[in-house]
Amino acid sequence: MLKPSISPSLMCADIFNLRNIIRDFEKNSIELLHIDVMDGVFVPNFCLGTDYCRRLKAETSIPLDIHLMITQPLDKLGVFPFGERDMVSVHFESDTPDNIHKALETVRGRGAEAFLAVNPDTPVETVLGFMGEISGVLLMTVYPGFAGQKMVEGSLERITALRKLFDERGCDNLSIEVDGNVNYEKAPLMRQAGADIFVVGTSSILGPGDLTDNISKMRSLLN
Ligand code: DX5
Ligand code: ZN
Repeated sequence: MLKPSISPSLMCADIFNLRNIIRDFEKNSIELLHIDVMDGVFVPNFCLGTDYCRRLKAETSIPLDIHLMITQPLDKLGVFPFGERDMVSVHFESDTPDNIHKALETVRGRGAEAFLAVNPDTPVETVLGFMGEISGVLLMTVYPGFAGQKMVEGSLERITALRKLFDERGCDNLSIEVDGNVNYEKAPLMRQAGADIFVVGTSSILGPGDLTDNISKMRSLLN
């Protein structure tokens, strides 16, 4: 089983204290920084953008986990600063399958890890069309676009089904990243179901309480 990684959702971080938060992430060996990018079309919200990613890369060596909730990602990858050690997720639902194949290929071509993101209503079997092209799947456990939502019913079963699908094909090195309402009660259940990358926001480490204490609490629940 892949070791658990924590990817804090920066849309949930206090922008007026961001530099200190990044230092705390570094002190606590946080593995990834989850950047939600939204275009107001694929999801009914706007969020973080290319300059935000650029500034982050200049500020810290923690790899970026860029979650593209945008239409036609293939045409827009060029404006994002990502490369070796970074992760980029494109949504299956955001373009034609052919263009999603090309977008994943472009991400890999720049040395980053390509992930296929799937919404709660997309069958997990969809990923079978992309095996060999991805390092993992970003399995949405809420409908994308907003923090503070409740996990969609059936999400744990989807994680189990996806992990089974990977294991049956000898792909136990493929990651399952979960995004949405990853709280202290659900995180261990998601881990047991087969998830290994946890997008954490207002539901846990970026919610109430001391950040370092929250991270320690989440780590103890995941290991
Ligand atoms: C959905 C967002 C949220 C957020 C996580 O598009 O990506 O899932 O990052 O925040 P909480 O913990 O509030 O769900
Ligand atoms: Zn996200």
